[in-house]
Amino acid sequence: MTDVRRRFFRPTWAEVDLSLLRDNLRKFRRRMPRGVKLLFVVKANAYGHGASACAKAAQDARLADWFGVSSVEEGVALREAGVRLPILVLGSLYPFESFLAAAEFGLTPTVASLESARRLATVAERLGREVDCHLKIETGMGRIGVRPLAAAEVVKFLATRKLVRLQGVYTHLSCAETDPAFTRRQLGLFREAVRAVGSASLRHAANSAGALRHAQSRFDMVRPGIAIYGNYPGFEPVMSLKTKVVFLKNVPKGSSISYGATYRTKRPSRIATLPIGYADGFSRGLSNQGWALLRGRRCPIVGTVTMDMTMLDATAVPKASVGDDAVLIGRQGSERITASEIAERLGTIPYEVTSMISTRVPRVYLQ
Ligand SMILES: Cc1ncc(COP(=O)(O)O)c(C=O)c1O
Repeated sequence: MTDVRRRFFRPTWAEVDLSLLRDNLRKFRRRMPRGVKLLFVVKANAYGHGASACAKAAQDARLADWFGVSSVEEGVALREAGVRLPILVLGSLYPFESFLAAAEFGLTPTVASLESARRLATVAERLGREVDCHLKIETGMGRIGVRPLAAAEVVKFLATRKLVRLQGVYTHLSCAETDPAFTRRQLGLFREAVRAVGSASLRHAANSAGALRHAQSRFDMVRPGIAIYGNYPGFEPVMSLKTKVVFLKNVPKGSSISYGATYRTKRPSRIATLPIGYADGFSRGLSNQGWALLRGRRCPIVGTVTMDMTMLDATAVPKASVGDDAVLIGRQGSERITASEIAERLGTIPYEVTSMISTRVPRVYLQ
């Protein structure tokens, strides 16, 4: 890892394997029928993996047709990094001035209400050129979107405006992983709304779980995120979180470790200090709960995770020394810790575990 050390000194980094990312994209595509487009969701800095690098890897290998982001800012960052494929802004744009920025950077906004359709038309007229949009239909997610019965009204309005092209219509599934009956109801409502829109539009509804588990949700395009990052059964995790032992000490039985002295050694112990903490996005919820891999063995996190440092009980690894790699997420030898395992321990989902990893942690890309 010499190139890693040349770029930063604090030895804590997230490794993102772009060849695994491409493999996941290929695997996902193979499981979809031919002709179904793929919108790769790279919002929230690609769930913490680095949006520009992930989007460009997919673009260069021709493995995505579209990208999805949550805001104009995220879309602009991709354009500035050289992403040329269409980018759909999945969030509801407000204030409406952001429609102007979206148009200037060639981003495709979501229209989620009659009011936003009106504002987008005003922007297009001010610019004097055609702008595209996708209409979001609310079918049970309860977040943004027009109700199926109101979709026709928005479509009718847009049809009166020459400069706004309704290029797509979509919805979002809230229970694709957990509730097939609910998903079927959502898809039924979506189909009804789509009838009002006409067949020229690109129809899309499926996130990873929708596309993989409900064939009828695939329509013209699918929108996977989590499966491409590999935190979904059958796909390979793309990100590892690594650091190095920076301090090592032998302590007697009964020694207290970290804030609040929540841990006391039960025997003479060897305690390793890692330069990673909750300010890196390594949750304090892992205090006295999580694990790290050292020389291929699982070592328990002892004491409270602090802002910048975390301690491990390395007694079971007598050969451990300062400078050893420690893996918080990823593989070492035959052992492995996944973001999904950490999520379960924290009572959350792997999306949160990887997207929490803060900007303080450099991302290192493996090709
Ligand atoms: C509108 C929309 N589509 C697609 C996705 C991708 O979902 P997943 O990561 O579960 O595949 C998301 C993510 O939350 C989303 O908000």
